[in-house]
Amino acid sequence: MKQHQQHLWWQDGIIYQIYPRSFQDSNDDGIGDLKGILRRLDYLRELGIKAIWISPIYPSPMADFGYDISDYKGIWPGFGTMEDFDELLRQVHAAGMKLILDLVPNHSSDEHPWFVESRSSRDNPKRDWYIWKDPRPDGSPPNNWLACFGGSAWEWDEQTKQYYYHAFLTKQPDLNWRNPEVEKAMLDIIRFWLDKGVDGFRIDAMWHMIKDEQLRDNPQNPDYEPTMATYNQLLPVYSTDQPEMHAIVSRMRRLLDEYPERLMIAEIYLPVNRLVAYYGAPHQREAHLPFNFMLISLPWEPKTVATAIDEYEAALPDDGWPNWVMGNHDQPRITSRIGQQQARVAAVLLLTLRGTPTLYYGDEIGMRDVPIPQDEVQDPQGLNMPEKNLSRDPERTPMQWDNSGNAGFTGGKPWLRLDRTWMRVNVQQQKQDKFSTLCLYQRLIRLRQQEPSLMTGAYRPVYSDHQVIAYLRQSEGYAGFLILLNLTHRPCYFRPVNIKFKGRVVIDTFPEQESLQVENTIDLGGDEAMVIKLEQWQ
Ligand code: GLC
Repeated sequence: MKQHQQHLWWQDGIIYQIYPRSFQDSNDDGIGDLKGILRRLDYLRELGIKAIWISPIYPSPMADFGYDISDYKGIWPGFGTMEDFDELLRQVHAAGMKLILDLVPNHSSDEHPWFVESRSSRDNPKRDWYIWKDPRPDGSPPNNWLACFGGSAWEWDEQTKQYYYHAFLTKQPDLNWRNPEVEKAMLDIIRFWLDKGVDGFRIDAMWHMIKDEQLRDNPQNPDYEPTMATYNQLLPVYSTDQPEMHAIVSRMRRLLDEYPERLMIAEIYLPVNRLVAYYGAPHQREAHLPFNFMLISLPWEPKTVATAIDEYEAALPDDGWPNWVMGNHDQPRITSRIGQQQARVAAVLLLTLRGTPTLYYGDEIGMRDVPIPQDEVQDPQGLNMPEKNLSRDPERTPMQWDNSGNAGFTGGKPWLRLDRTWMRVNVQQQKQDKFSTLCLYQRLIRLRQQEPSLMTGAYRPVYSDHQVIAYLRQSEGYAGFLILLNLTHRPCYFRPVNIKFKGRVVIDTFPEQESLQVENTIDLGGDEAMVIKLEQWQ
């Protein structure tokens, strides 16, 4: 069993993702901003999270809502000024919390001065900062690679008669990480923010950063189905996850390690065995937390989930700290994937597993994906593949704070419409209701932060079947916890053979059950999950 002796803030603490356009508006332009986040710091502190990760806040034409950066060292005026940022950082620290920025090193905006130069002529010194290639003899793109947001990944440039590569939008040209000058420029940017006191980075699209040197065609994906994004027609074996990536990440890590306790999170969508490679090795450390998206991608089926947890635990390198993500700005919200009731079960799972949990804003009040009328769609992924229902707008709608106008998000017209239920699904309402999802989250977080067993203790699988998952969490010298999750709507029993146990329910998705003494057998209601403080387990 893997257990850590010394824990750092990002091992003990919980990370909370803010999508800044949608968190809190302070100037009534309908778009959230840094001053708005500042205004809500008390809420975050009370919630009990440790670190805030903010999706990109840099100057950007907003073709991909900030993931297309035109200046890596500035602040987009719509979000505020550098002074606002400095003040936010200061106050986050004063509140005992940490601030993590989103860094997008794979690509810039096509409006970034680097790319403007690069595309200006074939012999411009920045030409090789991006990936430019000649067409094939018939004029077609250099290879068959596809863009994540639809269509070919190659865009023809009429002026210089070459194609450039973009893994995402045409307005997001990929930087050429085989050019050492690119790496140097990006490390310099990282240092700029570290010197300001930023506590870490979430590195965007890390597995895309290096591409096959020979630019070989990607093979067809035999499992492609027409409902999937067109990108999935091919297996991206040559366009992503190249071996050369690891040396680059380790150099980034070395830079972070020059500063005390800074954190590198990596956005990587890969199967477990390849994901864990991004922890690096003892002599060549890489990311602290390669994001684990299992809870986002797996079917909500108890045996599948239980097995995946065990596989992940087993695959981790000895000193690799686990982490769990249940939602983000790219994926349907948990309530819209598994339903309101099961989303509460998922909250218990997320906050009792071993490893750093990352929460997505609004999930703590059970926000759901909001239906956005076709003519209001803003997300390029939705606009480019309209027939596939892939827009990410539904999970990016404004935070629902209270039952004043626009749920307290803005005095203006929100950039995306709010859910019609905001009058009753909001922070203010839920604070007063001990049965609410917010109270469940708050109490789970509090318990986790108080109990070493839950915060950093060992994880031990106990049982799973077609309804239930059971596991133990325990730190040496402390009371252990039994966690029971019913992933179905129907009641069931937990009756382990050859084990005698006794304990008390301390948190339950049905709070009526709390304080209940349990012994040897437990009956669980549908959608019930419970955390049991053990007095005996043998
Ligand atoms: C990441 C971001 C996503 C963005 C993409 C391109 O996957 O999470 O929102 O569109 O990178 O930067």
